[in-house]
Amino acid sequence: MNSLDFIFQRRSIRKFTDDAVEDEVLEQLLRAAMAAPSAMNTKPWRFIVVREPDRLERLRGVMPFAKMKAAAAISVCADLRGPRNLVTGKFWQQDCSAATQNLLLAATALGLGAVWCGVAPMASLQKAVSGILELPAGVVPLNLVMLGYPAEEKPARTQYDPELVYLDSYGTPWKREIS
Ligand SMILES: Cc1cc2nc3c(=O)[nH]c(=O)nc-3n(C[C@H](O)[C@H](O)[C@H](O)COP(=O)(O)O)c2cc1C
Repeated sequence: MNSLDFIFQRRSIRKFTDDAVEDEVLEQLLRAAMAAPSAMNTKPWRFIVVREPDRLERLRGVMPFAKMKAAAAISVCADLRGPRNLVTGKFWQQDCSAATQNLLLAATALGLGAVWCGVAPMASLQKAVSGILELPAGVVPLNLVMLGYPAEEKPARTQYDPELVYLDSYGTPWKREIS
């Protein structure tokens, strides 16, 4: 077991058992998410944990590519209100994406399955999801992570491709063969 295996094992899981995800497990995912870096440590992220079956159904109804039946969802949002500094409001997508990736990796490490379903920058999806989650003005959704205990398995893999890497300047090959 390599210490990086959990990164390669993370795959988008779209089939789930009916088992509920325990609060303690959800809290561990949120702890991992909030360990992410953010520009000037502004931590704009907010998380909506969704477990109400009706609300999950409504989310599935408006999300064209999030029809999977999951026991829970976490929407990673950003709060763009409040005092402004140099970066507030500028890097929220990067900040919330870093938090989301941490969350996905934590889910894998804890034996859960999860899939990132995109909301931003699709204005119509942002509006629909904001309505269902009752987000106040100034709080914007980045995505919806559907999660639960997995009912499908996918192989671990890296998508490493040395052709995508250059040395010192664009176009100079990095390594064509793994030694
Ligand atoms: C920004 C973003 C949006 C995505 N949106 C969806 C989505 O709406 N529905 C879905 O099933 N998967 C979605 N995915 C998952 C990708 O399809 C998936 O990561 C990709 O096919 C690679 O597969 P893997 O996650 O198993 O490595 C999204 C991923 C990202 C990063």
